[in-house]
Amino acid sequence: MEDKNKLRSAEWFGGNDKMGFVHRSWLRNQGYPDDYFEGKPVIGICNTWSELTPCNGHLRDFAEVVKRGILEAGGFPLEFPVMSLGETIMRPTTMLFRNLASMDTEESIRANPLDGIVLLTGCDKTTPSTIMGACSVDLPTIVVPGGPMLSGRFRGEKIGSGSMNWMIKEKQEIAGYSAADIREAEVCVARSIGHCNTMGTASTMATMCEALGLTLPGFSSIPAADSRKKLFAQLSGRRIVDMVKEDLKLSKILTREAFENAIVTNAAVGGSTNLIIHLTAIAGRIGVELNLEDFDTVGSKVPLLVNMKPSGKYLMEDFFYAGGLSVVMKELSPLLRNNTVTVNNKALTDNYLDAVCYDDDVISTLNNPFQKEAGIAVLKGNLCENGAVIKPSAASEKLMSHRGRAVVFESMEDYHERIDEPELDIDENSVIVLKGVGPKGYPGMPEVGNVDLPKKLLAKGITDLVRISDGRMSGTAAGTVVLHVSPESTVGGTLAIVQNGDWIELDVKNRKLHLDISEDELLKRKKAWTPPMPLVDRGYVKMYISHVEQADKGADLDFLVGGSGSKVERDLH
Ligand code: FES
Repeated sequence: MEDKNKLRSAEWFGGNDKMGFVHRSWLRNQGYPDDYFEGKPVIGICNTWSELTPCNGHLRDFAEVVKRGILEAGGFPLEFPVMSLGETIMRPTTMLFRNLASMDTEESIRANPLDGIVLLTGCDKTTPSTIMGACSVDLPTIVVPGGPMLSGRFRGEKIGSGSMNWMIKEKQEIAGYSAADIREAEVCVARSIGHCNTMGTASTMATMCEALGLTLPGFSSIPAADSRKKLFAQLSGRRIVDMVKEDLKLSKILTREAFENAIVTNAAVGGSTNLIIHLTAIAGRIGVELNLEDFDTVGSKVPLLVNMKPSGKYLMEDFFYAGGLSVVMKELSPLLRNNTVTVNNKALTDNYLDAVCYDDDVISTLNNPFQKEAGIAVLKGNLCENGAVIKPSAASEKLMSHRGRAVVFESMEDYHERIDEPELDIDENSVIVLKGVGPKGYPGMPEVGNVDLPKKLLAKGITDLVRISDGRMSGTAAGTVVLHVSPESTVGGTLAIVQNGDWIELDVKNRKLHLDISEDELLKRKKAWTPPMPLVDRGYVKMYISHVEQADKGADLDFLVGGSGSKVERDLH
């Protein structure tokens, strides 16, 4: 028998006074019997389903499956919607709204009579935003990742969602693709329910959840269309009810060690650079110290164990058939911290003792990795006073140590206007510098750091240049791309004063990013620099621009860092 006094929801449903009547009565218009309000853990299913978020379009069905599990375990499921962020549709960028969606999640959880939470997530930002919000409340919480799409095939060739986007300009310029070719490719890429099927940001986020201990073990790699995805969703519904009874809150799972495990795992799977910004923001919400250098110190020497696009050859469906993340976790066990607890109340690596690899061309071993050092490198230098990042596993080896002249674009509009001008002074040694795409500047720090090369270089067969910006890069993209330059140009970081023709030196081995001008010249240019006017002067975007932190701090809003717990000081009157 439940002790109803222990349940948070009893504060709403347990009273026999006027407010107890009010809280129960209106809900009873759905036909719930008496015993639903008498000590059953109330589980909120926080759903990011939306037809405008295609990657999460199946989560309405999944919510019903989760409810099955909750009911079986004796819980009372109540589903609620939160703001959903569709990566391929929202303008100007979903990242502008990640923090807004986290506020929606946080306040929706705290304000309601919930004892435990299931987060239904999928597309890139729907995972970090909901976890950030849930962390600031800190109830028992489990994540149900929506899963990747099945592999696409186009004219006999396997193609990954996301990665295909980055080839469209090349395909049009070099292979002469017509509009009809492109239409045909579109449907071939997105062939089933689910999110992007490369190790892009969505798969990276699902992997992160499992490595942090927030999903049932083995859940994150299962394709959305596979029946086992629903099976795990149902088991998650059962498990959250027990988590409430065990008071297994997020703060017990999300320790510093859990964050280190997520960094190590991300390196081993060749995950997205977006992990840095989201994991830092999540750590900030739960009160764990995590800085930019930790990503290099903890992760940069970790070998690459999976052969997945965008760095490698395979897609998430292949990864799942090869044994999935379970195999990677088992192999990584000597590098992982095992003093963490996961949603099933076991230590992380104890969950993967029985994992078996079925294809060593997809998942390799620590002794025979696809790359010796795969983690993200954190750069320092006068061009990025607070740091910048690069993903070496997605970069060109020959450009990892490079000195070239800057070709500067002051904004994305400037880039689009001039990149294909025949007279643009650019060659294979140039360094593209893109300003104004940071958190405050764009605003929202879009995924544009991997800008396309000019047609005239593509026509010569050149497919990579060093590109530097204060923006982000899609997890599905590749290239020698320096990202997250902090401070961003809009707040007067050195990036703001780079001029055409300046020499720039990138030395990834020595973690250096240097603008080769004299100190006097640098100070002179900074003194003459004036900040641009914000593009937007009202509403949420105004608040975002005023309060968003720089990339090295996770780009959260400064007043959202930390949490307020689950207590609501004032009652409904
Ligand atoms: Fe949603 Fe890639 S667009 S995961």
